[in-house]
Amino acid sequence: MAEIIMLASGKGGTGKSTVSVLLGAALAARTLRVLLVELDSGLRSVDVIAGVCGKTVYDVEDVLCGRCSPEKAVVESPLYKDLFIISAPYSGGHISAPALRAFVEKLSPAFDFILIDTAAGMGAPFEAARDVCAQAILVLTPDPVAIRDGRIVADALYESGCPRTRLLLNRVPRSLEGTGVADLDECIDVVGAQLLGVVPESAQIMRAAASSARLEKDCTAARVFAAVARRLCGQDTPLVIT
Ligand SMILES: Nc1ncnc2c1ncn2[C@@H]1O[C@H](COP(=O)(O)OP(=O)(O)O)[C@@H](O)[C@H]1O
Ligand SMILES: [Mg+2]
Repeated sequence: MAEIIMLASGKGGTGKSTVSVLLGAALAARTLRVLLVELDSGLRSVDVIAGVCGKTVYDVEDVLCGRCSPEKAVVESPLYKDLFIISAPYSGGHISAPALRAFVEKLSPAFDFILIDTAAGMGAPFEAARDVCAQAILVLTPDPVAIRDGRIVADALYESGCPRTRLLLNRVPRSLEGTGVADLDECIDVVGAQLLGVVPESAQIMRAAASSARLEKDCTAARVFAAVARRLCGQDTPLVIT
């Protein structure tokens, strides 16, 4: 059965979808089968980052509403072998928690990991994902608003009994001067979650995501995601690669 992990944040635009794809790719590179489910209805971006834009006929809402079978909506990324994608709808869409649960339970035996990329905040996608996930990754940028909102989400996850919430700091600049946070320890202390990884601000990530291209194999960001994937697989791995 798959390990099911949700990616969440309080503030929008912290990089949940980008991290979902690149972490999924790093897990898939370890010959694991990974399904990435995007729940951010109306604001889809995973299709572009994973290179499946225009290749998907059905989306997650079609599946959850019973308009098509899950198998029909799942597409393998042409950029990252063994990473399978199911996109959010282009517009609207209601995410029903029982339907998501049934969908995840059906596909779980076919995958090693199911990553659920939620929308910012704690609306219906967050609640539906929380219902099926035993683990959460908070994807936050090192700025006071993202960190404060991340704490609120971490508390909500804790109160709902999510047994494991970890922090992934994204878009971390070489120097934190002017960001409003003193150091990474401050982020960890405010959020109150174990640090899973530190992804740098990366021109390679931005370029790859914007042009539906594969992330360069040996760039720093790719090595960071490989390390995060190893940690998720239970291997003892140094946290930060510079
Ligand atoms: N580590 C990074 N370095 C540079 N740009 C990034 C990084 N992570 C995300 N981005 C960029 O940030 C923007 C928002 O990312 P996205 O994944 O869509 O956020 P979210 O899903 O949280 O709304 C995108 O333009 C993406 O390319
Ligand atoms: Mg997103």
